[in-house]
Amino acid sequence: MLFKSLPESIPFLKFQDFYLQAEDAGQPFTEAGCISSVDQDGAPHARYVNFKYFFEDNLIFFSSYTSNKALDFDKNQKVAINFWWPSIDVQIRAEGIISKCPEKFSDEHFYGREQGKNIAAIASDQSKLIDSYEMLEDRYEHIKSSIESGELEEVRPENWGGYQVKVTFFEFWEANKDRLNYRECYKRNGDQWEKFFLQS
Ligand SMILES: Cc1cc2nc3c(=O)[nH]c(=O)nc-3n(C[C@H](O)[C@H](O)[C@H](O)COP(=O)(O)O)c2cc1C
Repeated sequence: MLFKSLPESIPFLKFQDFYLQAEDAGQPFTEAGCISSVDQDGAPHARYVNFKYFFEDNLIFFSSYTSNKALDFDKNQKVAINFWWPSIDVQIRAEGIISKCPEKFSDEHFYGREQGKNIAAIASDQSKLIDSYEMLEDRYEHIKSSIESGELEEVRPENWGGYQVKVTFFEFWEANKDRLNYRECYKRNGDQWEKFFLQS
């Protein structure tokens, strides 16, 4: 995850500090966070995504705008995210409001990526049913050879881009002896962050 123009307030700096500590401790997949959405019937759905940026007060990942989670986000913009970094025994919960990133931001990320990932983004209609995995592989290979022969351009699909989560709540959970864990929380209140503690 890249940290860019991070606000100077404590919860953001604390997030960055733990993130860097986890990386220093050799934590794999530090940028993977589990994001939960709620569908139109009120049922929750959770899945991991890779958060590539913390830009200003937004956690940002990239995905399909027509996937199952995208349908949830269209109906309900409230989301919850969870990171767990066992190498430092810290869990961070973040909650906030999700929206699509500006197109320019998605373009910059798309055109800076490895070609294979972009071909997969073009080939896959995320979350849609397919008869077999081989059909998806065939589509991937077909698009790859069309791009290589110049028949097709490697263009960011309209339904693929960034999602930004403007964080309104953080909980920093640190494991402690006898499970007397430390829970420090921050809730956004206008421009201020209200700090409080929860029992473990
Ligand atoms: C560690 C990890 C990172 C992932 N990163 C992403 C990601 O950045 N974007 C994405 O769309 N899916 C990512 N996935 C796949 C998602 O978990 C999920 O399968 C996919 O987004 C479809 O979810 P949906 O059907 O709920 O929309 C990742 C999976 C794992 C295990």
